[in-house]
Amino acid sequence: MQRRYFFSLFVGLVVTGLMSLVSLTGCKFQPGFGYNQGHAPEQPIPFDHSLHAGKQNIQCQYCHNQVERSKHSNIPALSTCMNCHMQVKTDSPHIQKMREAYDKGESIEWVRVHMLPDHARFNHAAHLKKGVNCQTCHGPVETMTKVYQYSDLSMGWCINCHRQPENKAPLNCTTCHY
Ligand code: HEC
Ligand code: HEC
Ligand code: HEC
Ligand code: HEC
Ligand code: HEC
Repeated sequence: MQRRYFFSLFVGLVVTGLMSLVSLTGCKFQPGFGYNQGHAPEQPIPFDHSLHAGKQNIQCQYCHNQVERSKHSNIPALSTCMNCHMQVKTDSPHIQKMREAYDKGESIEWVRVHMLPDHARFNHAAHLKKGVNCQTCHGPVETMTKVYQYSDLSMGWCINCHRQPENKAPLNCTTCHY
């Protein structure tokens, strides 16, 4: 009990500290601070990574095919899904919904899971070139029926890895902040 009290007091102090830091730097308060660990919003189609990347063993880059070249890792276009789903599971109402959108030239409005605040910048290509794999940051996505935010994406989390001597990663503020 005692311990829990001190823990919440500690959390309270940290949060107050962060909030005053935010108002001092003139940043707008952003709910969640990017600390949305575990975040897994509802998606328009219940896409299952454990089925596709796990059981079917489809490579991450088959779908997220821009990730090695760009800052952002793209979400695949419906045409990538339809490579298989023109034939596979056509009796499923989800697949029928995808087919209808595809025939009309529409796309699926996927809801973002990860979202750094606007003042922070991240670059996928630079990390992949250094051989950091997806799972180090995103966890065992190939076992997730519904993908969720695995790491807290806090500044501490980024710095912690950048500080490891073998990584030779930059620590100056402007590398990560606009
Ligand atoms: C068959 C295509 C496909 C494969 C293979 C695939 N993904 Fe995805 N991925 C998607 C789609 C579609 C979404 C958006 C829907 C969702 O969030 O569930 C997504 C979302 C994600 C997200 C969350 C993006 C966000 O909104 O922040 C991450 C992280 C991710 N995938 C990582 C991986 C990793 C790592 C692998 C390999 C282990 C992988 N994916 C394999 C199609 C795929
Ligand atoms: C060094 C950590 C790290 C690695 C390695 C990494 N990611 Fe990410 N990923 C992130 C962060 C941080 C974000 C949030 C970026 C933002 O909001 O701007 C993100 C976001 C995403 C998104 C959402 C779209 C976007 O770019 O914002 C997808 C999809 C994704 N990652 C897939 C992958 C896949 C697939 C791999 C491996 C090929 C991978 N990531 C490797 C940290 C990483
Ligand atoms: C390389 C082939 C392939 C690709 C590409 C692919 N899928 Fe699949 N998908 C499958 C297979 C195989 C199954 C499992 C069929 C079964 O249950 O026997 C499946 C199952 C599904 C199901 C479950 C259907 C149900 O009701 O049981 C959904 C939803 C789905 N996929 C969505 C997607 C989406 C969205 C994309 C694109 C981001 C995609 N798939 C890309 C092969 C693929
Ligand atoms: C698991 C380790 C790891 C994590 C976690 C990580 N990084 Fe990195 N990061 C690296 C390494 C290694 C490099 C050096 C890459 C190079 O030298 O090209 C790097 C380089 C960078 C660069 C410079 C890229 C360029 O264009 O040269 C930026 C910006 C960056 N990281 C931002 C972030 C942010 C923001 C986060 C947290 C959201 C983060 N990183 C989390 C390992 C990591
Ligand atoms: C490796 C990347 C990285 C480096 C280097 C870095 N930051 Fe950050 N910083 C982040 C990320 C990501 C966030 C957003 C997540 C969070 O609030 O923890 C952040 C958040 C912040 C915030 C909180 C703002 C808010 O809205 O919550 C401040 C203030 C800040 N950084 C200042 C600095 C200063 C000053 C330095 C240099 C001494 C620095 N950062 C270096 C990645 C980095």
